[in-house]
Amino acid sequence: MASLQFLLNGELRIESAVSPSMTVLDYLRGIARFTGTKEGCAEGDCGACTVAIADAHDEAAHYRAVNSCLMSVAQLDGCSLLTVEGLSRDGALHPVQRALIDADATQCGFCTPGFVMTMFAFAHGGEPADDTTIHEALAGNLCRCTGYRPIVEACRQVAGLPNDAAGERHPAAQPHPCEDYRAGDQHWFLPRSLPALTTLRVQHPHAIILGGGTDLGLLLSKERKTLPGVILTSRVSEMKKISAGDGALSLGGAVTYSEALPHLDRHFPAFAALVRRIGSRQIRNLGTFAGNLATASPIGDTTPCLIALGASVALHSDTKSRTLPVEDFITGYRKTALQPDEIIAAIRIPFLPEGDQFAAYKLSKRFDQDISTVVAAFRLRTKDGIVHALRLVYGGMAATTARAHAVEAALTGQPWAASSLAGIGALMTRDFKPMTDQRGSGAYRLDAAANLLRRFQIETTQPAALTRVDAL
Ligand SMILES: Cc1cc2nc3c(=O)[nH]c(=O)nc-3n(C[C@H](O)[C@H](O)[C@H](O)COP(=O)(O)OP(=O)(O)OC[C@H]3O[C@@H](n4cnc5c(N)ncnc54)[C@H](O)[C@@H]3O)c2cc1C
Ligand code: FES
Ligand code: FES
Repeated sequence: MASLQFLLNGELRIESAVSPSMTVLDYLRGIARFTGTKEGCAEGDCGACTVAIADAHDEAAHYRAVNSCLMSVAQLDGCSLLTVEGLSRDGALHPVQRALIDADATQCGFCTPGFVMTMFAFAHGGEPADDTTIHEALAGNLCRCTGYRPIVEACRQVAGLPNDAAGERHPAAQPHPCEDYRAGDQHWFLPRSLPALTTLRVQHPHAIILGGGTDLGLLLSKERKTLPGVILTSRVSEMKKISAGDGALSLGGAVTYSEALPHLDRHFPAFAALVRRIGSRQIRNLGTFAGNLATASPIGDTTPCLIALGASVALHSDTKSRTLPVEDFITGYRKTALQPDEIIAAIRIPFLPEGDQFAAYKLSKRFDQDISTVVAAFRLRTKDGIVHALRLVYGGMAATTARAHAVEAALTGQPWAASSLAGIGALMTRDFKPMTDQRGSGAYRLDAAANLLRRFQIETTQPAALTRVDAL
């Protein structure tokens, strides 16, 4: 019988009866009895459940922090999983634990195992000790009692530790990959190739496609559902590919935010800065671009950038493939053009032609770990100071991510100058009648949408006039 196999703190685990819908957090606490990992929110917001995972077959393990409350135990297949119990050696604390104690960075201790694992992944990754990197690394962990200054100090102390022995155990046996796992009435598939995935899609039309599980994981952790049929994309080698060439950056349909970031930094820095504000590192280490598009959320953060950049999606079934502009892929509130037998195989983002300007903005109540109130992406081409081509794409303004067509039309052919934006607020109301909700009123959203465009005009014509642009 097929079994899920993975390393847990260096020891091989073979599971053939466990429910694949069980979260890693419940597995650790309820079955493996590693209770150091804690449950705070069970929805990816607090970081108390943070563990570190790597591919068990990689020669040099590359550990990354993830939220165990959102991950299903089936996603562990082939992984090496480290929890706080796996860090100490022969009774000696790990340097990360020692640094937290020395910096007085723990009080009640509930959040501490999560911070330990986040800091372990940070130190293991050999990242620099600057404030921006440390804050970004820690943004997915909350502490209600200590205060963050000592925690940040402890993190600074462990930056650049020599690569860590905790990730380098050599167990006697390695996990054997599972492609088809059954437990009770649940049947989960872990295909390794695109043809295997598309065939399964047809054979099991009711099975759910699971990417990183940062959206679907809430069904397991919050709604406590069991999912009878699931097909995982994360082991499909073709869908993990990232390539830059042929005029575009191509991201496979299982590429995570963290995997894409170095490439976005190189080719689309403004998009990269926006992606760094999606959830936390733990979320970005699992969440995929394809998952973000497929949910078709009106506040999905990647869609405005993808539409403004003229990106397209490659949709594959077992018999055909087709390409659609992202703009046409989203067809309504949480609706897409994806057919029941199709999956998103890749997303292609054309490079910006010389001279085009591109910017992306996210407005949310908190800077870190928050959903957008308004998200916008703008692309501009001018000729002799006159607007030649303009794409203004907004999330949070309508039932879908949408372009401000009336504003685009009014500005095209006009000087790219503050004076041309004088009546922009009234024009916006032709494109959008945004709703009022707990994130912001409709009037606030309209003002914000117009002001972001004003900011773009200033940034592209007199950048020195802006002194602080990242604090929104
Ligand atoms: C704490 C937290 C914070 C978050 N913050 C943000 C944020 O700031 N901004 C934001 O935009 N989102 C945010 N999200 C939402 C989520 O992380 C993203 O939408 C993410 O990109 C989803 O990708 P995934 O791979 O995890 O999707 P999954 O949960 O695996 O799947 C989501 C949907 O996509 C479908 N799907 C996945 N891959 C494919 C494929 N290849 N082909 C066809 N269908 C597919 C699934 O069937 C499912 O319907 C947050 C979520 C959490 C829990
Ligand atoms: S329990 Fe809060 S992020 Fe998982
Ligand atoms: S030490 Fe109490 S929650 Fe952080």
